[in-house]
Amino acid sequence: MYEREMDKAATLIEAIPYIRKFSGTTVVVKYGGSAMVDEKLKKSVIKDIALLKYIGLRPVIVHGGGKEITALLDRLGKKSEFIDGLRVTDRETADVAEMVLSGSIGKSLVENLEAVGISACGINGKDGHTLLVRKKLFGSGRDIGFVGEIDKVDIHLVMTLLDSGYVPVISPVGVDSFSQTYNINADYAATAVAGALGAQKLVFLTDVEGILRDKDDPSSIIRRMNAAEARSLIADGTIRGGMIPKTECCIDALDRGVKTVHVLDGRLPHSLLLEIFTASGIGTMVVPEGGAQ
Ligand SMILES: Nc1ncnc2c1ncn2[C@@H]1O[C@H](COP(=O)(O)OP(=O)(O)OP(=O)(O)O)[C@@H](O)[C@H]1O
Ligand SMILES: [Mg+2]
Repeated sequence: MYEREMDKAATLIEAIPYIRKFSGTTVVVKYGGSAMVDEKLKKSVIKDIALLKYIGLRPVIVHGGGKEITALLDRLGKKSEFIDGLRVTDRETADVAEMVLSGSIGKSLVENLEAVGISACGINGKDGHTLLVRKKLFGSGRDIGFVGEIDKVDIHLVMTLLDSGYVPVISPVGVDSFSQTYNINADYAATAVAGALGAQKLVFLTDVEGILRDKDDPSSIIRRMNAAEARSLIADGTIRGGMIPKTECCIDALDRGVKTVHVLDGRLPHSLLLEIFTASGIGTMVVPEGGAQ
């Protein structure tokens, strides 16, 4: 009798040390476009973020939208091209990306948060000049268009929202000193924001189990790795495509003082809660150079 209820109580009790540890701290969640396609899953991620907020953490969402941008470009008869996981972005593509990110995806996340009683506010990097960028240049000299590299984060607006009880929902669109619009890989945007906020955690929710030794074998997940190993896995081609910027960001975030960085499967319901509130965790955790592998 009451077994189910007792289990529930046990789960809540197990979470106490984590709630104590993380209450009042900032967690930046990068929500990948690829893991956002399923509406049911999206609602479960939103509930997790709502719970974080209700128990006193300060969640910030930075979202991507690669799949949706590609889908709209397809409908417009435009092909998508990527180099090392970054989208080649002409003027029209930058406009479409902003429309999809800030107009559609960001507002849908806000709507979903508001529906579970959380005050949320969607902004992009133009608001409050939050994300100032310059054109990202490649060593090869290849110009991939309006892809921004973040020069400066003005965290004032995000702080104002957090201090007023809002969950900021940030679209990865930036502006340069000539008021030109740029598309930013959302992983970079999340990392820059997490660094500027001095976040406790940066969590990448994506559409794979974590960082894998073999991209096609979920059981090859690497539970814990240090920055040196992460670098060598990029160099030897184990980490490819969209996982390249993400892994670079894991390393960069640690350099910027973020305490822990995780790559998690956003397709797994409640992966965020499992990672934050249980001892074992479920994705890949990247630790600083010299940290145990
Ligand atoms: N070694 C690897 N381990 C895991 N995933 C890998 C690896 N190498 C390449 N990938 C690819 O990286 C993809 C994740 O990056 P992707 O940019 O597609 O998603 P996202 O960043 O979550 O979404 P968005 O770019 O829309 O924000 C995976 O779906 C996988 O195909
Ligand atoms: Mg990506």
